[in-house]
Amino acid sequence: MQTRQTDQGFNFDQYPTFKQDIDPKQRAWIEVKGKAIERNVRQLRTKLSKNCQFMAVVKADGYGHDAKLVSDFAIKGGASQLGVATLKEGVKLRACGVKKPILILGNLYTKRDLIISFKNELMPTISSIRECLICNHIGKHFGFKFSLHLKVDTGMSRLGFEFDNFFQQFEKIKSFENILIEGIYSHLSSADEDNALNPKSITQLQRLKFDKLLKQINLDRNNKIKIHLANSAAMLLNKNFHFHMVRVGLSMYGYSPLAKIDKNLSLEPALFLKVKVAFIRTIEPGVSVSYGGKFVSSRKTKLAVLSIGYADGVPRNLSGKIKVIHKNKLFPQVGSITMDQMMVDITGSNEIKVGSTMILLGSDGDKTISPIDWAKESDTIPWEILCSFKNRLQRVQVD
Ligand SMILES: Cc1ncc(COP(=O)(O)O)c(C=O)c1O
Repeated sequence: MQTRQTDQGFNFDQYPTFKQDIDPKQRAWIEVKGKAIERNVRQLRTKLSKNCQFMAVVKADGYGHDAKLVSDFAIKGGASQLGVATLKEGVKLRACGVKKPILILGNLYTKRDLIISFKNELMPTISSIRECLICNHIGKHFGFKFSLHLKVDTGMSRLGFEFDNFFQQFEKIKSFENILIEGIYSHLSSADEDNALNPKSITQLQRLKFDKLLKQINLDRNNKIKIHLANSAAMLLNKNFHFHMVRVGLSMYGYSPLAKIDKNLSLEPALFLKVKVAFIRTIEPGVSVSYGGKFVSSRKTKLAVLSIGYADGVPRNLSGKIKVIHKNKLFPQVGSITMDQMMVDITGSNEIKVGSTMILLGSDGDKTISPIDWAKESDTIPWEILCSFKNRLQRVQVD
């Protein structure tokens, strides 16, 4: 076939047709530094008490970073276990070839889901005798022990056996021949609150309850059951919370959940949210920008239109409250954030052009914008910011 040329010399046939051929950096994307995850895990592990294991919490697609990528680098950094929220997340990691033990932190309650969990060598979290019986039955059928973790509620009032009944139920569960209790754990509700070290805080009361429970069940030293309680905040607070394993999410991704940051810890954010400038226009004074005309220019204003919006996961309530970085300079976002675009005031810059890259989250030179900053401005938490990014933003590994 003859190739068609235009009078401008384009060869139209050389351009791709398929979705997979579209440059992921053509519009807006998330860059993930796998090595930052690896370094964070390594560094956090130096803070652990002796022999304490590190479970990398990679639920919600690795807090929006890409669960497989995070798992691989966390394992390189020394994570010995992984935590996911759902059966599907666990099965997906197994299908990608991840071999480490995986705990499902959510609740599986149907026989079908528990069988799938068993067949994929995923460990479910068990919060009732009913599910223990199902697991025992499954183990018996397949002629193996079904590995699982028991969860006890110490104050979160979410999943877990009732604290007051646990001892009695544990005695019964121990007699089930076809299950293997790999772990016993609980989850803290308020370890990132400023008062967490105060003896009367919820965190300390939960810790006391957990201790009481451990005394009651009185596991002997040779017992292989892993005891775990700490999330990132509790892990960073005090070795008292470490036991045999810690379950770490946020700090592994490079953000401290504690307001008071340990000076000896230099966590490195692994995520960069980047966007291309799609259009540039200059407006006269007194011209309104975006839906609702909430921003009106007070001077001649040069605007960059960025190809990212709330359909990508940037909260709309950040409209007019955030800044964007270009070459170590900050530029304010103006007007309402729309579904697919937002406007930035770039008055005075001659460097920014259509096709330039700007940074919404991440750093350049000495300028940094973090999900913690966004969370403060939009009255939420950094966990929610990270998990809100949609699949329209392709994740690109940069090392
Ligand atoms: C049961 C459980 N353990 C550990 C974590 C990790 O928490 P963080 O991200 O604060 O380290 C979570 C996250 O929400 C969780 O639900």
